[in-house]
Amino acid sequence: MTPPLQVAVIGAGVSGLATARALKNSGHRIVVFEKLSQLGGTWLYDPRVESDPLGLDPTREIIHGSLYKSLCTNLPRQLMGFSDYPFPESRNGYSGDRFPGHEEVLKFLNDFASEFGLVELIRFDCEVVRVERVGSRNDRWLIESIWCNNLKSKEIFDAVVVCNGHHTQPRLATIPGIEKWPGKQMHSHNYRVPDPFRDKIVVVIGQGPSAVDISRDICEIAREVHLSSRSPNVKVSKLVSLNNAWQHSMIDCVNKNGEVAFEDGALVQADIILHCTGYEYCFPFLKTDGIVSVENNRVGPLYKHIFPPKLAPNLSFVGLPYQTAVFQSIGLQAKWVSHNLSGSRLLPSEEEMAADVEEYYRQMEAKGIPQHHTHCLHLKLEFLEWLAAQLGLELGSGIKEFLRVD
Ligand SMILES: Cc1cc2nc3c(=O)[nH]c(=O)nc-3n(C[C@H](O)[C@H](O)[C@H](O)COP(=O)(O)OP(=O)(O)OC[C@H]3O[C@@H](n4cnc5c(N)ncnc54)[C@H](O)[C@@H]3O)c2cc1C
Ligand SMILES: *[C@@H]1O[C@H](CO)[C@@H](O)[C@H](O)[C@H]1NC(C)=O
Repeated sequence: MTPPLQVAVIGAGVSGLATARALKNSGHRIVVFEKLSQLGGTWLYDPRVESDPLGLDPTREIIHGSLYKSLCTNLPRQLMGFSDYPFPESRNGYSGDRFPGHEEVLKFLNDFASEFGLVELIRFDCEVVRVERVGSRNDRWLIESIWCNNLKSKEIFDAVVVCNGHHTQPRLATIPGIEKWPGKQMHSHNYRVPDPFRDKIVVVIGQGPSAVDISRDICEIAREVHLSSRSPNVKVSKLVSLNNAWQHSMIDCVNKNGEVAFEDGALVQADIILHCTGYEYCFPFLKTDGIVSVENNRVGPLYKHIFPPKLAPNLSFVGLPYQTAVFQSIGLQAKWVSHNLSGSRLLPSEEEMAADVEEYYRQMEAKGIPQHHTHCLHLKLEFLEWLAAQLGLELGSGIKEFLRVD
């Protein structure tokens, strides 16, 4: 066991909280930097939206959260907890609903943070604006932060864990003709309530949970909702159970008279296009001289989505993988990071880690998986099992029923 390290954790969402707990258990000294005035990250519902509904204007004030008011989890409550701190069934303010509302997840995170004494480790209203290697051997980390929008400070840490989330910067669909299309556009990041869609004809692009949820939300008051999906073999069809919603293929192009033309031949005179097309990874504060970069939504190179081989174990990322049991996955990642910061020589050599990353990329390519799916786990059990094995832990049984074994 090495002496306790000074560790900076960036963000107090699920990832930052799980990481803080794991590091605290190992006796490290931790500061959790959180730019908002409360913990919870994504699960903190924020009724405000950004000034640019597509998120393109670089001078806009950024709102972190993307939750809409009606959101319930898309995973059953058994998968919304950590393996050693489960999401409660119905008691003390917990509903017992199979898919709890977002307020309940926030309550869970607050309970988790109080129970393990994490709240006092968080520096609220403190935004990290720069993270950079410093020191005579370049082996320490400078963190520059701004407290309450005005007080700048610089501090040195032994290690940094990046937990800043990845559901804030919109990823947009490219649509031929969009520059001249006269309607309104919005990304789901800025969707909160259905009211602005009253009596409108809306095209919703996407096929993830947000696209489905939001379509259901707005079709109550919109005139028509047309869902556009990328998956092949989609036929124009009326959506069952909704009387004013249709499923289409991809958009072919849009015209200056307001028409949206779908590849399936349908033409719709639409008022609004709503992009439910996901998000970009984004680390505006991180300066690594190109050692870690984001290219087409691939953060890399990262060994097991967590450690840049050249900077391991002192720089790490928790919370990047998606399409998995997110809380369980984050809990394991956090423990593994803490484990590697506490011991010595647990990770393979830099060369071996780099080769592992290359091999992972090669396999993705061979299977025809696009680069922007690098951190997508496709609901497979493999990564979680690998992490659990590194830690000598068993995965809970509920998770095995939910995720696929290949
Ligand atoms: C609409 C929507 C629905 C979802 N539904 C589910 C679901 O049903 N089930 C599920 O398991 N997951 C769901 N997710 C995924 C969700 O993102 C994860 O559950 C989880 O919130 C990820 O936590 P995180 O800590 O990695 O990121 P976040 O929750 O985004 O937290 C990041 C934190 O970092 C802070 N931060 C960022 N930058 C800085 C900085 N420079 N300085 C200081 N602080 C900073 C932010 O303020 C924030 O508090 C959903 C996501 C979205 C967007
Ligand atoms: C990681 O941090 C420790 C403690 O500051 C330091 O001794 C070590 O050299 C660092 N490792 C790297 C690869 O920079």
